This record gives sequence, structure tokens and C-alpha cells, in this order.
Amino acid sequence: MSIANSQPFRPHHLDPDVRPSEADIESVLLSHDQIQTRVAELGAQISRDYAGKDPVFVSVLVGAFMFTGDLLRNITIPCSLDFMAISSYGKESRSSGVVRVMKDLDESVESRHVIIIEDIIDTGLTLNYLLENIRNRNVASVKVAAFLDKPSRRLTDVKVDYAGFEVPDEFVIGYGLDFAQRYRNFPYVGILRPEVYGGK
Ligand code: IMP
Repeated sequence: MSIANSQPFRPHHLDPDVRPSEADIESVLLSHDQIQTRVAELGAQISRDYAGKDPVFVSVLVGAFMFTGDLLRNITIPCSLDFMAISSYGKESRSSGVVRVMKDLDESVESRHVIIIEDIIDTGLTLNYLLENIRNRNVASVKVAAFLDKPSRRLTDVKVDYAGFEVPDEFVIGYGLDFAQRYRNFPYVGILRPEVYGGK
């Protein structure tokens, strides 16, 4: 591809001319059915692994909202859910790993088993920051459930404990993931045409 690390690809301001349509999608990478099947598997696996541990899921807004909803529907053990909203510093969205917490957790996670829910792990810098942030709260443990994993772009060595799908180095949207705040509502994951984001 495509989006080199040095290129900005997530403008902070919504472009009113962006009219999301299926024509913007180069190809469908993951269908709604494929996603539902995999998310059910992840839910069953986490439910087994955390039986008797009463975990707290920490969902990272906004991208993880749809994955969070589907994953939690497949959790069959007692658990709780909290949200964090973060945003990158700087004008461009190229991940620097320096993030600002826009909304912190509502409840303390001290002594709890935490599972961070992320939409996609790209460079891994954001997750690195989040792991550090959560570990500093004296938790019993912290693990990561990420809907998508783009290991080819990794700049730091972070472990994804529960990964939905590995994806190639393409810009993907849908199922919560956006470009310029658009496409989050698409029920599948698609590769965005480079003309749309000015890439390639
Ligand atoms: P990282 O710090 O580079 O791992 O950044 C991860 C964040 O970048 C994700 O939580 C997404 O918000 C965003 N991101 C990375 N790749 C994509 C993509 O292909 N589509 C949409 N958002 C992406």
C-alpha cells in the first residue's frame, strides 16, 4: 500500500463534503456474518478464561463501540463495563503514542482484572500508553481484546491477548472504525478506496 507512517490520514475536522457511500469501498474484507462468528468465539474464550474473576472491560471510545456491544453480548460470566475516551495530541493523527484522556473511567479498577477493548492495533503506540495507564492503577491483571490487528505496522512490541482478525496494511473502515468520523455505522469491514483519503 499506501499509508506510510509519515502520512496523516485522520483529519481532525469533519469534511462536510464527505458523503460516505458503498462506492467508497474498494472491497469487503470481513462480512457481517464472519464478524459475528468470530466475536462469538472470542466471547466464549474470554468467558472461559475469566470464570470466577469478575473482570471489568474497559472499552476505548469511539472506535471500539460496536465491537464492545457484540463482544459483551457473548460474555456469559459476571463482569462490568467502563469506558475511556482518548485522543491523540497534535494536528495529525499519525499515532505518536502521546494521548490525552478525554473521558476517564467512572469507577476505580484497583485490584480488578481488566480487559481493554480496542478497535484496531496499528503501530501499537496508543495501546502501549493505555496499558501503562491501567497498570498504574494497581490492577490485578490487564489483558487486551482487539477487534483488528495490523501487525505489519507495529512500532512497539505490544501483546494482543484476544485478536479478532489480522488485517493487511490497508486503511479499513466500518464496524466502528472511521475515516474523518464517517463509515462507523457500516456493519462490515471494508478497505477504503485510496482516492477517498488521498493515499497511494
Ligand atoms: P496505533 O497507536 O497506531 O496502534 O493507533 C491505533 C488507532 O489508530 C486505532 O485505535 C484507530 O483509531 C486508528 N487506526 C489505525 N489504523 C486504522 C484503520 O485502518 N482504520 C481506521 N482507524 C485506524
